Amino acid sequence: MKWIPEYRDDVPRVERFNLIARITHWGHTVTFLLCLFTGLILFLDGVDWLAFIFGGYRGAGLVHRIAAVGMTIMLLFGLIAGFKGLIAWMKDIGRFGKNDIMFLSIFPLDFFGVPMKFPPQTRFNGGEKMNSLVLLTMVTLLVLSGYIMWFPAIFPAGLVRFSYPVHDLAMIFSTLMVCMHGFLGSFHLGSGESFWGMWKGTVRADWAQHHHAIWYEETYGDKAKSEEE
Ligand code: HEM
Ligand code: HEM
Repeated sequence: MKWIPEYRDDVPRVERFNLIARITHWGHTVTFLLCLFTGLILFLDGVDWLAFIFGGYRGAGLVHRIAAVGMTIMLLFGLIAGFKGLIAWMKDIGRFGKNDIMFLSIFPLDFFGVPMKFPPQTRFNGGEKMNSLVLLTMVTLLVLSGYIMWFPAIFPAGLVRFSYPVHDLAMIFSTLMVCMHGFLGSFHLGSGESFWGMWKGTVRADWAQHHHAIWYEETYGDKAKSEEE
C-alpha cells in the first residue's frame, strides 16, 4: 500500500510552492514539533521517558527555548524573503466565499468515504483557508505569550500570569489542527499529491485542475497564457 501517491515526472506538472515557501514551511514544522514535544514535558506529569530524550526537565526547557528562537527565525525569514507570497496568501484567504462554505459543509462526508463533488476552489480550498487562519492566530499567540513568559521581568506581572493559559490553549488548538492538517497534507486519499507541492514544489497539472480549478485557470489556464503573450 502506498501512503503518499507516487511522484510522477512523466506527466505535466505546475508550480505550487516556491523554494522560500517550502523552506519556511518545513523549517517551521521541525521547530514547531520540537517546541511541542519539549513543551509537553513541561506541561504534563509523568512523561519522564520523553524528558529523558531531551536530557531531563532542564534539558527540555533549554531545547524549547532554542527551538523557539529557530521557529522565530523561520517565521521572520518567511515574512521578509517571502513577502510577495505572503501577500498573495492573505489575498487568497480574503476570497473566502460561497464555494468555500460549500466545501467546508461537504468535506466531512468526503473525509469519511462518501464520494462528493466539490465546487471549484481558489489557490487554497475552504479547509486550507480555515487552517491558515487558525494556525496563523495560534502561532502568533504562542510566540507572543512565549517571549512574555521567557522575559517576565520586562512585562507587567498580570500579563505574565495571563500568558501561561494563553500559551497552553494555543498549544492545544494548534496541535489538534496540525494533526488533522498533517494527515490531510500527506496520507489522506486524494489530497496526497499536495505533499509533493510542498516537498518538491510542483503538483500534477490534472490534480491542480481538479482540486483548485479557479487557481489553475487563473495561473496556468488559457486566459493566463493569453495575458502573458
Ligand atoms: C517563539 C515561540 C515560543 C516561545 C518563545 C516559547 C517559550 C516558552 C517558555 C519561556 C516556556 C516556559 C518554560 C519553563 O517554564 O521553563 C514555555 C512553556 C511551554 N511551551 Fe512554549 N514557547 C514557544 C513556542 C511553543 C510552541 C510552538 C509550543 C507547542 C505547540 C509550545 C508549548 C509549550 C508548552 C506546552 C509549555 C508548558 C507550559 C506550562 O507549563 O503550562 N511553545 N514556552
Ligand atoms: C506535520 C507535518 C506536516 C505536513 C505533512 C504538512 C503538509 C502540508 C502540505 C502538503 C501543504 C500544502 C497544501 C496545499 O497544497 O495547499 C501544507 C500547507 C500549509 N501548512 Fe503544513 N504540514 C505539516 C506541518 C505544519 C505545521 C506544524 C504548520 C504550522 C503550525 C503547518 C502550516 C501550514 C499552513 C498554514 C499551510 C498553508 C495552508 C494550507 O494549505 O492548509 N503545517 N502543509
